[in-house]
Amino acid sequence: MTQAKTDHYTNSALKIGQVDNYPDRVAGEFISKVVSNDSVNGEYKLIVVEVHEAALRAYAGQMFHLLCPSPDSSEVWMRRPMSIYRINRDARQLEFLYKVEGRGTRGIATLNAGDEFNIAGPLGHGFTLDPQWKNIVVLGRGVGLATLAPLSQLAADNGVGVTAILSARSPDVVMSRDLFEACGAKVVTVVDTDNSSEVGNVEKILAGLIAEKKADAFFTCGSERLLKLMQRLGREHNVPGQVAMEQIMVCGIGACYVCMRTFEVNGEKVLKRVCRDGPVFNMQEAVAW
Ligand code: FES
Repeated sequence: MTQAKTDHYTNSALKIGQVDNYPDRVAGEFISKVVSNDSVNGEYKLIVVEVHEAALRAYAGQMFHLLCPSPDSSEVWMRRPMSIYRINRDARQLEFLYKVEGRGTRGIATLNAGDEFNIAGPLGHGFTLDPQWKNIVVLGRGVGLATLAPLSQLAADNGVGVTAILSARSPDVVMSRDLFEACGAKVVTVVDTDNSSEVGNVEKILAGLIAEKKADAFFTCGSERLLKLMQRLGREHNVPGQVAMEQIMVCGIGACYVCMRTFEVNGEKVLKRVCRDGPVFNMQEAVAW
């Protein structure tokens, strides 16, 4: 029975349809096949899955809702939204970078090469590039770097230069460096262990990039203090920006309202659902938490 199910469903789409009222947002439920699920450092793992070609419509900043196996005998399975780390269209693969900390990610960590993995998506609004932009600055910290990583691909595909400022607690947990470098980005690493990640130092780096005209737009994820810094510099120097918001989610499709956050649009406070209206938003509209 197990073999018959595998033959029938692996890499297939169970259901594909429109999301909400957005004709351009087609999502589906897919049975992917795990290619690998390995540790990349002491904290994070990377799961690579082979998917149906319809799942490869995903773009940078979007998410999938992953059906996490139970990590123990209680057999409680749950979906967890996770942003895409890399889209490899040639190999028909998606990659997700995750930290093993809760029940869902502990369940994902139990998957082995060859296992089936139910994923639903792509969901949400991701990053966009204005054709006028020639050089962008990407600034992220911690697992926020995983969300920003696909920007390296998007920028490379559009001939846009990238300076990536990667912030982390220590050099051994800096992530996404390889992806950015492979796409030709200039990478600057700042870490807590030598205080180079302090806001004052990051501000100096950003100010230098603005002066060199290497900052047509800002992108950030993963740190409130870095978001506030980019918002301030963006206002002062008229640099547009986008932020990928991190938020607890349940349904991932706009139905449960668990992911509501406050934004400021044209001087008015408004509530938005991060999963459906984002997770990527205009940086100046985001209200730091
Ligand atoms: Fe349910 Fe966003 S997670 S509305």
